[in-house]
Amino acid sequence: MAGRIPQTFIDDLVARADIVELIGARVPLKKAGREFKACCPFHDEKTASFWVSPDKQFYHCFGCSAHGTALGFLMNYDKLSFVDAVEELAGRLGVDVPREAGGPDTHDTGSASLYDINARVAKYFAARLTENPVARNYVTKRGLTTNTIESFLIGYAPDSWSAVLQEFGQHDAGRQSLADAGLIIERERAGARAQERYYDRFRDRLMFPIRDARGRVLAFGGRVLGSGEPKYLNSPETLLFHKGRELYGLYECRQHRTPLTRLLVVEGYMDVARLHQAGITYAVATLGTATTAEHLRRLFKLVSEVVFCFDGDRAGRGAAWRALGNALPEARDGRQIRFLFLPDGQDPDSLVGTEGREVFEKRVDTALPLSEYLIKALAEDVDLSHADGRAQLAELARPLVVKVPGGVFRDLLIERLAESIGLNSARLSHLWFNEAPGANGLPAPIRHGLDRLAAGGKPSGSRVATSTGRGGVVTQAVKLLVHFPPVAPRISEAVLAQLDAARDSGAQFLRAMLTELREQPLAHTGQLLERWRDRPEHARLQQLATQEVLIADEHAALTELNQAVGRIALAEYTQRYDELLAKSSSSDLSQTEQAELLDIAAAMRELRVMAQPSRN
Ligand code: UTP
Ligand code: MN
Repeated sequence: MAGRIPQTFIDDLVARADIVELIGARVPLKKAGREFKACCPFHDEKTASFWVSPDKQFYHCFGCSAHGTALGFLMNYDKLSFVDAVEELAGRLGVDVPREAGGPDTHDTGSASLYDINARVAKYFAARLTENPVARNYVTKRGLTTNTIESFLIGYAPDSWSAVLQEFGQHDAGRQSLADAGLIIERERAGARAQERYYDRFRDRLMFPIRDARGRVLAFGGRVLGSGEPKYLNSPETLLFHKGRELYGLYECRQHRTPLTRLLVVEGYMDVARLHQAGITYAVATLGTATTAEHLRRLFKLVSEVVFCFDGDRAGRGAAWRALGNALPEARDGRQIRFLFLPDGQDPDSLVGTEGREVFEKRVDTALPLSEYLIKALAEDVDLSHADGRAQLAELARPLVVKVPGGVFRDLLIERLAESIGLNSARLSHLWFNEAPGANGLPAPIRHGLDRLAAGGKPSGSRVATSTGRGGVVTQAVKLLVHFPPVAPRISEAVLAQLDAARDSGAQFLRAMLTELREQPLAHTGQLLERWRDRPEHARLQQLATQEVLIADEHAALTELNQAVGRIALAEYTQRYDELLAKSSSSDLSQTEQAELLDIAAAMRELRVMAQPSRN
């Protein structure tokens, strides 16, 4: 775990960010009054319903209701994690991200110098490619254009045992970085001179830098120019590079304006480069490993549709089956996993070269859904025309199906299998999961739908607004704060004190929010949402930020907020007043209770005078 990024830093960062510039660099924005609009980058549309507000530092689409802050935009559009989005924003503003103490930090100087050395070596390799005719000839023969070479930063490692070492390893620190990055290897029998202790890992190879989501070079893959073993040599596992996590080409996929909706997972570096070159810019490759669960989680963070592409040969089928095994636990409702098998002896590189983008994409469009692939593959080993074979299919399928999380998808899979086996799906389900057939005799998918509806009844952020009559006013007040955070410090101590005794949870939240914003003021909506990002109310506040307020400026907001607090306090007092009165009719009030009653009555009179009818 890296040390925490201090909240104050995030506050400052978001305050300094310019959401218009940030989004404008990726989406063409048009000025419209005080705001900017565009066709929404998160859904397909012809007329602009995507708005960016420089005042609130917030974006919102009225079509698909995508919304968020500058950081949120980086996360959703550039598909960055929160920490990466913070780093990216900080990088644009030229500041370093501080970390609170505690826990080893992956962003410490050690890894910083590895990123740095990798970046410099990648540049060095790229320059060697342009000047080496043999290597240039090879890439031309492989059909790579200059454009592709540049966008993938493809390079060439010279045919030398010490080219990288000489260039970057003159000093101890440089040599250490090179060794830590896996770019040089220590000799078994070390010589006397420090420089002779090491030799270059990559020699006379075409070099493919492997980059992370932000484009930082993590590692390299190097291909021999002709024949030779190994065909591809990869960087070892380092502080930065974990083979089972990374996907080659992901950064490059994200460099296109069209939003990513699906990803095609292929096997090789060359496949990715050539697919992108042909216009299939959603291809990534695992790095000579099977697709891991970690890969899948990463993929599904970005898109809801993943198509695995395999060679049609025996090795390809084996790899597909392993991918299926890892994919099953990730097969949830709303995710699409499909399998594409290429003709024997072909890979995406060769196929897209001969048949072109359109024909290749037709193949992708018709790839087998996971359920069909699973059944087809299992059925190949059994004879379904006999009862024995069908029972065998049920046996073979069971350990696979139980890996799938419960839900509509699993129910449908069971139904498809039941069909092939010639069994009632409720029976099959019962057999495998020891589950009773669907409640109320409803088919399982419908039952799940009902369950989900029931569970979705109450939004999780409902703590802010309560179900009491006060809820409406509390929500209105919180909404005003969300839209006009700078107003908070102008609320007087006396007004805030009205909420001191509030017992309603919504009113308590409002009081806490006002107190915090008075002590640590914020400039705009975006900053406020970022400060609340990890708190339970975040979703609700974000939702309020997307709602319109019929208030023109901070001055009007202040008046409105003062009144809202007054009305909430009045409601609180009224409730307590009624309680005390009710008590007094059945028993005597204590001295303190009597004093409280009088105080409340006075406070209520004052509040009634203050509380003007609100505009909305
Ligand atoms: P392939 O052998 O299918 O090569 O390896 P390829 O991608 O078609 O390469 P070209 O077209 O001959 O240049 C697929 C992937 O497996 C990994 C690499 O990631 C490669 O892209 N691999 C392969 C290795 O890591 N080491 C090897 O020796 C071979
Ligand atoms: Mn190939």
